[in-house]
Amino acid sequence: MNLAILGMGTVGCGVMEVLSMNREKITGLIGEEITVSHVFVSNVDKERGVDLGEAIVTDDIDSLLNSDEIDAVIEVMGGMETTRDVLRKFLEKGIHVISANKDMLAKYIDELALVAENNGASLLYEASIAGGIPIVNAIEHGLNANRIHKVMGILNGTTNYILSKMTKDGWDYARALDEAKEKGYAEADPTNDVDGIDAKRKIVLLSRLAYGLKVDIDEVPVAGIRDVSLKDIENAMTAGFKLKLVGKSEFDGAGMSIEVAPVLLPDDHQLSSVEYEKNAVYVMGNAVGETMFYGPGAGGPETASAVVSDLINCMRNRGVAQRSARPEQSAHIKVSNVESG
Ligand code: NDP
Ligand code: HSE
Repeated sequence: MNLAILGMGTVGCGVMEVLSMNREKITGLIGEEITVSHVFVSNVDKERGVDLGEAIVTDDIDSLLNSDEIDAVIEVMGGMETTRDVLRKFLEKGIHVISANKDMLAKYIDELALVAENNGASLLYEASIAGGIPIVNAIEHGLNANRIHKVMGILNGTTNYILSKMTKDGWDYARALDEAKEKGYAEADPTNDVDGIDAKRKIVLLSRLAYGLKVDIDEVPVAGIRDVSLKDIENAMTAGFKLKLVGKSEFDGAGMSIEVAPVLLPDDHQLSSVEYEKNAVYVMGNAVGETMFYGPGAGGPETASAVVSDLINCMRNRGVAQRSARPEQSAHIKVSNVESG
């Protein structure tokens, strides 16, 4: 089974580590050995710090698109339209695609899911929401007997790390952001983290999945944390609250309310104890009631756990594409009325 990996940064290297440390188990689950045959990067001379084995390392995407050897592609490079176009071409060839790229997916998932379906390929994206937490599988498979009417979560590790460092350790905003970058939690451009854009992309993908509706990202209101000061944090703590960046949506069967904003959560709220880079997702279903999913929202091996899980699930059903939900209808987004907490 030949695998191409597009991108060999934090997550790409994490994928190599997971494939190596759990090789025997993964081979057993899939029923054959995985060979990383191609690695696509922008700088072929960069030292990666992981063993790339016999992989062809290239900056020429056409050599991958023209190859007949590739069975599945893992996209962990980021990017928007160019990346969408590349993935579309792989899907058109019937090649399974696994992507962690929430930036691109939040805008183009409906389009790519249709191409996948029309060409008998899988498009899987577990890692794009809440890093290592298997929330896509939970909603798509574990909770599919429910009508879901609410999802809410701490969906960005960088901002939760910053707010936790400010709250628990008294660090200032700039120092906490620098460390989040150093640890590989932040995006290449951390503006998207601190301004809530990354969390917005994830609540859009989550809501699409939970309610089976297309969600227009441009209609979703967002506020970030860049203006939060230590004084704000202290005031919140004195009053018995914690400041958290929360993405939330509710669907009443007709309209959807959805937003991302910093909110004051009481100390005993389910999401208040979620600290540092950890994420948590709360899902309310009409049969199961309240459910909570907790885990690492960012990081190399942590995110790779979700990427490789998609790969295993995809290749276990070799020849049978994994159909992911593809909504036909668009959500009617109501003027935001999401109350805090
Ligand atoms: P990095 O910046 O660490 O790595 C990106 C990799 O992609 C690099 O190897 C880079 O090549 C390569 N790359 C980027 N653009 C191009 C291009 N145009 N052509 C060829 N190669 C390119 O990113 P991450 O690993 O952190 O993130 C990857 C994806 O996963 C993103 O979509 C991100 O949003 C998502 N993600 C990240 C998480 C995390 O914790 N970091 C968690 C969940 C999702 P080179 O090294 O040669 O420059
Ligand atoms: N920058 C993102 C975060 C990475 O901090 O959550 C995981 O999607």
